[in-house]
Amino acid sequence: FGLLGYDPAFLNTCSCKSQITFIDGEKGILRYRGYPIEQLAEKSSFLETAYLLIKGELPDKERLAVWTYNIRHHTMTHANLTKFMDGFRYDAHPMGILVGTVGALSTFYPDAKQVSEEESRKLQVRRLIGKIPTLAAMSFRHSLGFPYVLPDNDLSYAGNFLSMMFRMTEQKYEPNPVLEKALDVLFILHADHEQNCSTNAVRSVSSSMVDPYSAIAAGCAALYGPLHGGANEAVIRMLEGIGSVDNIPAFIKSVKSGEGRLMGFGHRVYKNYDPRARIIKKIAFEVFEETGRNPLLDIAIELERIALEDDYFVGRKLYPNVDFYSGLIYQAMGFPTDMFPVLFAIGRTPGWLAQWIEHVKDPEQRIARPRQIFLGAPSRDYVPLDERP
Ligand code: CMC
Repeated sequence: FGLLGYDPAFLNTCSCKSQITFIDGEKGILRYRGYPIEQLAEKSSFLETAYLLIKGELPDKERLAVWTYNIRHHTMTHANLTKFMDGFRYDAHPMGILVGTVGALSTFYPDAKQVSEEESRKLQVRRLIGKIPTLAAMSFRHSLGFPYVLPDNDLSYAGNFLSMMFRMTEQKYEPNPVLEKALDVLFILHADHEQNCSTNAVRSVSSSMVDPYSAIAAGCAALYGPLHGGANEAVIRMLEGIGSVDNIPAFIKSVKSGEGRLMGFGHRVYKNYDPRARIIKKIAFEVFEETGRNPLLDIAIELERIALEDDYFVGRKLYPNVDFYSGLIYQAMGFPTDMFPVLFAIGRTPGWLAQWIEHVKDPEQRIARPRQIFLGAPSRDYVPLDERP
């Protein structure tokens, strides 16, 4: 194989050059287009951050207004998509529905095949960011048998999503401002994370120059996996299993003896506190002020405190990651655990789109085509069926 390297899971391979997201895992630094995640979480909005990721710079007032208008203009879905949605089983997992319906959008917008045309790309970006919360909320309501709620474009991006999820009467939905802001910040924190599994899937699929709906559906499919989008659900199950603060020492002991992992701890890249986890912990307190304190929060706080003083976790550089507190917040807001990866997908869509555009515009990229080390049978002759032993 000459100079070809063997690198399972691409742990030591850079698959692209990128200007979008910077991570320093040793120091716990995350920046989008140079801006620290802490500043964006505090001062920006999700739609402004989406603009930054996709266009490379923060917008001025006018550009932000046009961008926001354009995205709101694309929140509705075609009526036939509703019929498609209705065809899923009553108990279909919302993330499975999202994978299917995002992919189906490619059949509604055949113009999206013009991947090399900038104007077409811009249109698909607006459509995807506009429609993904609509599809997400429809998938939730379908699973409950509730009628779908049309987008309310007077509301903010997060507020409209909450309305499409939870509105139960004819009356206009008034989102709780604390929960609306918290959800917006959670979307910002999930908006990009360089070459993670789903982004790598989007880039790899896009390299065939397929339309972005198909590529983003591939990203959603990758996120559906428990090792990627499912860890916050596992944290909730773990906290419920521990049951009370008194049981934490025994639980820690079992983790240290290899009987399972402390979910929401450790990260492939961060060998320090995940900067997103710090912000999320603060949001958790703000949300619980509104919704009432979830007893699982007390278990989480104590678990974190004990783990951060324990040589096992400190020695292996295992710190809380983005998933340690996010599930608790989603649960307090009324989202069922099935919806957690769907929320992740809404937040990650601008990142996937920014990476898609960078990939298809990169003259050094070609269709993704890794090689393999072949370990199968050597050449042999075909034996007709009735002559086989
Ligand atoms: N609890 C207990 N021990 C752990 C944990 C944990 N959460 N994570 C790693 N370790 C130990 C592991 O047993 C190993 O110990 P030893 O050296 O004695 O064999 C050592 O730490 C290194 O572990 P690793 O599996 O080689 O580390 P990795 O970089 O391959 O895995 C990880 C990263 C995130 C898969 C892992 O830390 C993990 O399973 N964490 C729990 C699940 C979780 O929270 N996932 C969310 C990740 S962030 C969301 C995202 O970006 O998608």
